[in-house]
Amino acid sequence: MPVKDRDGDLDMLLEKIFNERGWDFRNYKRSSVMRRISKRLALLDCPSYGDYSVLLDRDPSEYDRLFSNLTIKVSEFFREPEVFARLCEAVKEDWREKALKVWCCGCGHGEEAYSIAILLSECLSFEAISNARIFATDIDHDALDAARKALYREESMKNVLQDLRDKYFSCADGLYKVKHNIRNLVKFGVLDIVRNPSISGVDVLFCRNLFIYFNKSLQAEVFEKLDYSLKPGGLLVLGKAEVIPPLFAHKYAPVGTRLSTYRKRT
Ligand SMILES: C[S@@+](CC[C@H](N)C(=O)[O-])C[C@H]1O[C@@H](n2cnc3c(N)ncnc32)[C@H](O)[C@@H]1O
Repeated sequence: MPVKDRDGDLDMLLEKIFNERGWDFRNYKRSSVMRRISKRLALLDCPSYGDYSVLLDRDPSEYDRLFSNLTIKVSEFFREPEVFARLCEAVKEDWREKALKVWCCGCGHGEEAYSIAILLSECLSFEAISNARIFATDIDHDALDAARKALYREESMKNVLQDLRDKYFSCADGLYKVKHNIRNLVKFGVLDIVRNPSISGVDVLFCRNLFIYFNKSLQAEVFEKLDYSLKPGGLLVLGKAEVIPPLFAHKYAPVGTRLSTYRKRT
């Protein structure tokens, strides 16, 4: 059960986290933030957000544990495989010859970015893939370190067919390592989409399962940055439960049905 917010002490805590560490969770969805922080409170036997704030002063290493709790990393290779199947058709049609720039925003431990790299390797010619660039960004340094190591457990691999496993992964001690030709296609970097400027001139933009953690006003604010990033005619891929904020909906046409994939109108 989430701990109740008394006298605005949750707001004060979020303000403190922002001032001390620069992590801005103030406009993340309230219910989700309360649930995640409450987990730390329960573990530490801490009765209120105010007490937790005092605890952070006494033990600043708790900030990192809280941060890792607030930024949820659940993912897997080829999450919602039908989205990738559709993307394969689209890139084959539109980017066979042109240099493709992909941005995977909120990439977590890298499963999605490497899935994109594998998909492009399957769909594009050697020349087109040599000219393609895939940027994968996240707010969390530790997640990006793990992404660069590219080691995954079986749980992340359930959508990866055997022939793709054989071709793009090596397996030892129950862990799958993405092969270097795929690793080399992805450039990982820290980018906080709430606070930093976005990447420009993008052809395909994945931003999945990140918006769901933002409140409506932050969704609109962040979407403006994504919209700026994506070239006219480019593809935007959101998560299954995410929609384009109303202010921008007229600029995007759905690709397929129920795929959360959109083409930016030219
Ligand atoms: C649930 S994961 C999504 C992973 C992948 N996109 C997927 O759909 O499988 C959400 C990711 O968003 C990242 N994230 C949260 N807030 C962020 C922000 N302000 N800027 C960039 N990334 C953020 C988290 O660290 C986490 O890795």
